[in-house]
Amino acid sequence: MTNNAQWSSRLGFILASAGSAIGLGAIWKFPFWAGANGGAAFIIPYIVFTFTIGLALVMAEVAIGRRGRGSVVSAMRRVGGRWFGTLGALGVLTSFFILSYYSVVGGWCVAYLWDAIQGNVTINDANLLKSHFGHLVSTPELNVFWHFVFLTLTCGTVALGVESGIERLSKYLMPTLFILMLAIIVRGLTLPGAWAGVEYLFNFSWDKVTSNAILNAMGFTFFSLSLGAGILVTYGSYLSDKTDVPNASLWVAVLAIQAALLAGLMIMPAVFAFGLEPNGGPGLVFVTVPMIFSHIPFGGVFALLFYICLLVAALTSAVSLLEVVTAYLQNEWHLSRKVATIVNWVSLFLLGSVSALSFGPWSGFTVSGRNFFDLLDYICSNYMMPLGGFAVAILAGWVAWPMMRQQITAVKPYSEAALSLLRIMIAFLAPILVAVAIYQGLFGG
Ligand code: TRP
Repeated sequence: MTNNAQWSSRLGFILASAGSAIGLGAIWKFPFWAGANGGAAFIIPYIVFTFTIGLALVMAEVAIGRRGRGSVVSAMRRVGGRWFGTLGALGVLTSFFILSYYSVVGGWCVAYLWDAIQGNVTINDANLLKSHFGHLVSTPELNVFWHFVFLTLTCGTVALGVESGIERLSKYLMPTLFILMLAIIVRGLTLPGAWAGVEYLFNFSWDKVTSNAILNAMGFTFFSLSLGAGILVTYGSYLSDKTDVPNASLWVAVLAIQAALLAGLMIMPAVFAFGLEPNGGPGLVFVTVPMIFSHIPFGGVFALLFYICLLVAALTSAVSLLEVVTAYLQNEWHLSRKVATIVNWVSLFLLGSVSALSFGPWSGFTVSGRNFFDLLDYICSNYMMPLGGFAVAILAGWVAWPMMRQQITAVKPYSEAALSLLRIMIAFLAPILVAVAIYQGLFGG
């Protein structure tokens, strides 16, 4: 079965794909991750990877989707044969797994937004903030409840369909996100002492250029462009034949980088202005950031804006993960969108609840020091996504290069030199680098 749904415009595709890319990865992980990995020594490779193998793989996924016109399984099977269909199923599973725990973190965003609405997050006491966050994640009812709320928002959007659900949501929310971020950045940068945060993020020194920083940058590139889980294949399948794939892909990459850099600028200058801990790790946006709001005039308003940003970013990404699974159930199991959504809702609620409970009553269950949540993240980021990216690279670079070439040049001619460069990246660089990264087991750190 093929897909009949389509984006209403090129912009719709770009904003939905950027919405997928710009998520908790950009806003929650990038600021502390860039700082911890040596500032510019991490950011420069991240930008280089994004515009080379990252962009090449984005184009490959979109091309496969548009040619295959179906879910990641149907599209990869149509383009590459039965075995690639099976590899596509890996993408569905990856998206499903990621969404189950992503939705738990999404739940924290809703919980904090709810706090912010009530004016409860501007607390000037680090210990209180820590215990507030600890209470949220370790109390089963709370954690499961907010996970449920976030999942329901995600399922509701996807149930409405590609154009009237996903595209419409992204069209309103992505520009909103951009404006809100700018407002918070201006506020942060005008604080005395803010410049130290900018230096922390962007300072460059050669001794920080380690293989670790570079591999982490590559892992982050993958996660931040939503590669290797079938997202862009699925979104590409709704793309009109009249859109130029390289150009649209470039936009997605530019927007993704722009959002990560803005997120860094939104958080770090203020963190430094108030002498807070930049290495707050995962707790940065839930424990450190609220401190900032307690120090500035109208902090409550900025807190509200900030948690809206976080929720918007998380929601448009979660929606993309769910669409992969939904398109698969529609295409391969011939379920209607509504029924597929209900199946996902129930199963993701159950699996996600295990992740949610792994911070509380089930925290004793660990595999090599990782609770269920961390374990699932580790397996997805270090093995399943890279494997998905590897499969896409082999398919587009070797098995179906003529298809890839045709898709890339369908609207606008590109020079032979550019096409050769693209092929080198997809057929050689991407598989080699991904194999090295899988081997090192360092994806996502
Ligand atoms: N890119 C998103 C982020 O930065 C997360 C995400 C959405 C993702 N879809 C994905 C990550 C697919 C990996 C694969 O938060």
